[in-house]
Amino acid sequence: MEQKSWLRVAILISLLAISCGREPKFAHKDNLPVYNHTIAMTLVEYASAVYLKDLTGLVTWTCSRCGDLTEGFEMIELIVDVEHCLQGFVGVAKDLNAIVIAFRGSASIMNWIEDLYWKQLDLKYPGMPDAMVHHGFYSSYHETTVRPGVLHAVKRAKELYGDINIIVTGHSMGGAMAAFCALDLVVNQKIQNVQVMTFGQPRIGNTAFASYYSQLVPNTIRVTNYHDMVPHLPPYYPHLKEKTYRHFPREVWLHGNGSRTLSHPVEKVCDGSGEDPNCSRSVVGNSILDHFTYYGVKIISGTPGSCKIVMDPRVAEYSTQDIAGNFVLYRDPSASVAEMKTASSCTPSNFI
Ligand SMILES: *[C@@H]1O[C@H](CO)[C@@H](O)[C@H](O)[C@H]1NC(C)=O
Ligand SMILES: *[C@@H]1O[C@H](CO)[C@@H](O)[C@H](O)[C@H]1NC(C)=O
Ligand SMILES: *[C@@H]1O[C@H](CO)[C@@H](O)[C@H](O)[C@H]1NC(C)=O
Repeated sequence: MEQKSWLRVAILISLLAISCGREPKFAHKDNLPVYNHTIAMTLVEYASAVYLKDLTGLVTWTCSRCGDLTEGFEMIELIVDVEHCLQGFVGVAKDLNAIVIAFRGSASIMNWIEDLYWKQLDLKYPGMPDAMVHHGFYSSYHETTVRPGVLHAVKRAKELYGDINIIVTGHSMGGAMAAFCALDLVVNQKIQNVQVMTFGQPRIGNTAFASYYSQLVPNTIRVTNYHDMVPHLPPYYPHLKEKTYRHFPREVWLHGNGSRTLSHPVEKVCDGSGEDPNCSRSVVGNSILDHFTYYGVKIISGTPGSCKIVMDPRVAEYSTQDIAGNFVLYRDPSASVAEMKTASSCTPSNFI
């Protein structure tokens, strides 16, 4: 493996060893990322658009959610894992001067949230001693067609645009995938300038994992919305040491400052612990509606529990497909904007 990342891991291990007290200590850098409202408003639109089923509109960036702050986005690849009902894209946002990678959350959101209470820390994160994560979240990025699709697209984007920043985003389970993707880019692809912003992301690993993560991908913002229940799950039990899930920093909590109306939310930039008691943890996570809308942008709508996709056959010509039916659409500037012509569907998988 790459010498440099091993060196970093070794330094982390010694940091963790020094701090092995009664409670699992959480190590993080002091130079936590600066929260930028404008960038958040832009990224939430990408995290929202990636949910859409109209693949033609996405590839040509003419979909109902494509425009506004994301206008001019240059799609490079749209990855559709039909087998596991996953979707993501990679493209270039010229105004941010960055490659943007976005992941969709679960299509069967209600079942998925119910299951979140019971997710086990059941996978050792490779190469990071004591780091445990949830296997389902991990595998949705690492053991599907999503990872090879993303890595291929990032390579293409870098060939076309040079060594610009990479911003990874996603909502809900898409946020979990974004975190695993960013870690993969930093550790395995040796890419330095990786930023992450997730919305309504669940916890994905234990304290050791959160420590490694925040050292390796320090430029991470995890936006949570008022009473959104998903960031509260799987639960955090401070006394269970390494057997509990724990968030990595930095949380930014949107709240109504005592009012239920979130038209002008207060944006609280939280501390570096990942589990700031004065942020989302200061309220009960009992709202599903707060999960569906971030910054006034509706993220989840449409038919729940369906992986239906809609695609124009002329766009489908620019795709590669594997034997399981998973495919990648490559942006071709000559592909015209067209009406939806074909529809196909699959059932949501229980894999995640
Ligand atoms: C936030 O990001 C935008 C877009 O990159 C930039 O123009 C603006 O100056 C940034 N704002 C702050 C306060 O850093
Ligand atoms: C929240 O509300 C209180 C009083 O209602 C006010 O004093 C305070 O400035 C508000 N905080 C923010 C960040 O708007
Ligand atoms: C959290 O808020 C309480 C009051 O509600 C305050 O006493 C405490 O210092 C705050 N903690 C942090 C870490 O900001």
